[in-house]
Amino acid sequence: MFLKSLSISLVLSLLLGPISVLADGNFTAFLSQYVSALQSAGFSGIANALEAINGTTVGEQLLSRLANTTNNYTVFVPDNDAVRRIPTSISSNASFFAEYISYHIVEGDFTNTTNSSSSGGGSSSTTSSVTSSTSTSSGSTSSASATTAALFGRLFAVLPRAGSGSSNPQPYAGIYPNVTIGRTLLNSSDLVHLEGNQSQVLAWTRYTPDGNVTMLNQASFTGQNISITNSTTWRNLFINGINGVLIPPGNFSSALNATNTTALTALLSTVQLPVFNGTNETAIGALQNATGITYFVPNNLAFTSDVNSTLQGLQSNTSALQTVVQNHYINGTSLYSTLIDNSTTAVSAAGENLTFFVNSTGTFINGANNTVAQIVRPDVLLDNGVAHIINGVLFSTDSDPAVASSAYQSATSVAAQSTTETGPIAASTTTQSSTTSSTTASQTTSA
Ligand SMILES: *[C@@H]1O[C@H](CO)[C@@H](O)[C@H](O)[C@H]1NC(C)=O
Ligand SMILES: *[C@@H]1O[C@H](CO)[C@@H](O)[C@H](O)[C@H]1NC(C)=O
Ligand SMILES: *[C@@H]1O[C@H](CO)[C@@H](O)[C@H](O)[C@H]1NC(C)=O
Ligand SMILES: *[C@@H]1O[C@H](CO)[C@@H](O)[C@H](O)[C@H]1NC(C)=O
Ligand SMILES: *[C@@H]1O[C@H](CO)[C@@H](O)[C@H](O)[C@H]1NC(C)=O
Ligand SMILES: *[C@@H]1O[C@H](CO)[C@@H](O)[C@H](O)[C@H]1NC(C)=O
Ligand SMILES: *[C@@H]1O[C@H](CO)[C@@H](O)[C@H](O)[C@H]1NC(C)=O
Ligand SMILES: *[C@@H]1O[C@H](CO)[C@@H](O)[C@H](O)[C@H]1NC(C)=O
Ligand SMILES: *[C@@H]1O[C@H](CO)[C@@H](O)[C@H](O)[C@H]1NC(C)=O
Ligand SMILES: *[C@@H]1O[C@H](CO)[C@@H](O)[C@H](O)[C@H]1NC(C)=O
Ligand SMILES: *[C@@H]1O[C@H](CO)[C@@H](O)[C@H](O)[C@H]1NC(C)=O
Ligand SMILES: *[C@@H]1O[C@H](CO)[C@@H](O)[C@H](O)[C@H]1NC(C)=O
Repeated sequence: MFLKSLSISLVLSLLLGPISVLADGNFTAFLSQYVSALQSAGFSGIANALEAINGTTVGEQLLSRLANTTNNYTVFVPDNDAVRRIPTSISSNASFFAEYISYHIVEGDFTNTTNSSSSGGGSSSTTSSVTSSTSTSSGSTSSASATTAALFGRLFAVLPRAGSGSSNPQPYAGIYPNVTIGRTLLNSSDLVHLEGNQSQVLAWTRYTPDGNVTMLNQASFTGQNISITNSTTWRNLFINGINGVLIPPGNFSSALNATNTTALTALLSTVQLPVFNGTNETAIGALQNATGITYFVPNNLAFTSDVNSTLQGLQSNTSALQTVVQNHYINGTSLYSTLIDNSTTAVSAAGENLTFFVNSTGTFINGANNTVAQIVRPDVLLDNGVAHIINGVLFSTDSDPAVASSAYQSATSVAAQSTTETGPIAASTTTQSSTTSSTTASQTTSA
């Protein structure tokens, strides 16, 4: 046991040596050291994958960004079992594989910095040899600024639960229904169609306050939730081991399928929606072709017998049904749950005002015609936006196409100015009230 921990420390301190030699963006040097570090920590599967994408344009761009130590990244590293299960349809195409890997890298350092109890040597019963070598070598470390040999002892130490008094880096994560959302490096037009050509996001949460951090909308190939198993800091990377491979979000149809929202699916199949060139298209097709969308998806229970009979009465009124559907989404904006607070306002695709309120029970949407529903499942990510599952139908046949159109124009110009986030995507909590409420959807009302 001593030998094993010694050799891990040795390998890691050898890796430490040449840091100052690295030129920013020299991914050749960076890659070989990163690959060795991953191998020594038990992640040889992903280490091999990185070598496989080395040589593709997408892979080299990705690795150059990681190697730029000016910037911090949070990296999710699938364990060997997960990597083995990757279908060859993905792994045999190195460029495509590189795109998948880019969905595992988030801009910025998502370490929870308020979790800084570096004194607690007492949390004894942890047994891994890596952890025990930590306590001998790092006894007097205080800062988390991560490039001294002593700190390498904690490389990939198994994560204790939040608040257990450990000095291991902990991921920043909301407690469900609060989630944390970060912007990844996945930007391929094959897989992402967000407003302003933004990169895809990744969402995670703790389902219980002292539980593991679980990735939203992701299941491993064995059907389990994908969670973080261990974490460390290595140079400019905050690295989190996970027990699955993250799959980039699919389209609206697959989200409806995955959430079993069959009643809305049935309604959408009877409706056509206008698309950019002035024609109507099937609702699903139109929604999937949008660039940046937020859909409030009523669950099956929301379609009560009252709602169903009212809808039945509108069967011959295609434009009223179209408006009901349009009052459930925002066109041109991905309004993640973390962007919603009590001051958030938006405009539906029918041109009606949407407001929100957040209290200890949860997050609620106030739609046209004084309809109210609660978000019961936030942030079902889409390749072109986000869906939130709600517990009521926002039943309104009110519309104002001119307002809808200007809200869309405004959302599009806001998206075009977006800059890269290097921290959790969240509502700006600045107290300034009037015109400049920055990146939230409240901009869409300003025209
Ligand atoms: C590293 O990133 C910084 C900040 O994004 C950028 O200004 C700089 O040009 C990058 N360096 C290289 C070598 O790409
Ligand atoms: C990158 O690093 C390698 C290994 O240290 C070195 O041989 C190479 O010259 C460097 N390339 C550049 C462009 O600095
Ligand atoms: C990555 O590819 C370069 C050539 O493009 C090669 O020199 C280098 O050894 C490769 N690195 C790894 C870790 O495979
Ligand atoms: C981190 O966890 C993974 C399982 O997800 C395991 O395969 C790996 O060996 C662990 N690494 C260390 C250093 O504990
Ligand atoms: C990266 O993280 C370090 C250590 O936490 C911090 O000092 C530095 O400002 C961060 N760099 C950027 C570009 O955010
Ligand atoms: C950060 O850590 C503190 C202390 O463990 C915990 O109470 C808090 O919920 C964490 N916050 C986030 C966002 O992870
Ligand atoms: C979620 O966030 C809200 C607003 O910050 C907060 O009031 C609430 O207590 C949080 N809920 C949980 C479970 O952490
Ligand atoms: C949390 O993660 C640890 C480490 O992978 C695992 O042993 C434990 O079973 C997980 N707990 C739950 C509740 O999934
Ligand atoms: C999907 O919803 C239907 C109708 O509410 C229900 O009968 C069925 O059990 C659900 N299926 C799953 C997998 O949740
Ligand atoms: C979702 O799709 C799968 C096949 O891809 C199908 O077996 C399943 O019934 C679908 N579920 C729903 C709710 O439509
Ligand atoms: C309008 O765009 C849709 C695709 O969104 C296309 O299927 C349709 O043919 C176009 N119609 C015209 C008249 O260009
Ligand atoms: C699109 O559908 C609406 C509502 O059914 C209808 O009023 C409109 O005329 C249709 N537009 C076209 C170009 O067919």
